[in-house]
Amino acid sequence: MPIRLGTSAPNFQAQTTKGPIDFHQFIGNSWVVLFSHPADFTPVCTTELGEVARRQSDFDSRGVKLIGLSANKLEDHNKWIADINEINNVDLSFPIIADYERKVSALYDMLDYQDITNVDTAGVPFTVRSVFVVDPKKTIRLILSYPASTGRNFDELVRVIDSLQLGDKHRITTPANWRKGDDVIVHPSVTNEEAEKLFPGFKTVKPYLRLAKSPF
Ligand code: BEZ
Repeated sequence: MPIRLGTSAPNFQAQTTKGPIDFHQFIGNSWVVLFSHPADFTPVCTTELGEVARRQSDFDSRGVKLIGLSANKLEDHNKWIADINEINNVDLSFPIIADYERKVSALYDMLDYQDITNVDTAGVPFTVRSVFVVDPKKTIRLILSYPASTGRNFDELVRVIDSLQLGDKHRITTPANWRKGDDVIVHPSVTNEEAEKLFPGFKTVKPYLRLAKSPF
């Protein structure tokens, strides 16, 4: 069964830098960002993991747990984390899965056998820069794949989490380039009568595009 938006996040057991985990137990009642990187001791990945560690409080404040992954051994992860901490002046505290046998990578379709820019010297595919956002019901809510050459934009990841969490609480969607606090879109399923109560003073740009103040 392919992993798509709206499907249930497959469960797995794995070794991590914080000990063994059962993924569903790890999720518990939290949101989770499961993200992979091609390999330990590689330059772009080192900046990405440092940036995520630096932004730990942004994820904590949104009730989001982080968990990284690459197809490397635990001992390599641990040595590399020391480098990440030194280079980025951080204290990386989230677990990183040691998926040396590529079981989780295969389960989550994180290996791209067609991308010749993302292979090791023997031609074996590295894991893709994948991101999965999983909600507390264990449903996949966001899937991203970035090329090996390009570090991810973690502002964008936090922005989408804000949009998803707000949309789960209120009957809204969010426009292009929306940021926390900006006006939101009244969900198309909301009638004008309901909108008067839910979003007093909402503005009708077109019958299908109604804007409201952010309910934050
Ligand atoms: C990097 O993190 O710099 C990287 C990893 C794999 C392929 C290309 C770049």
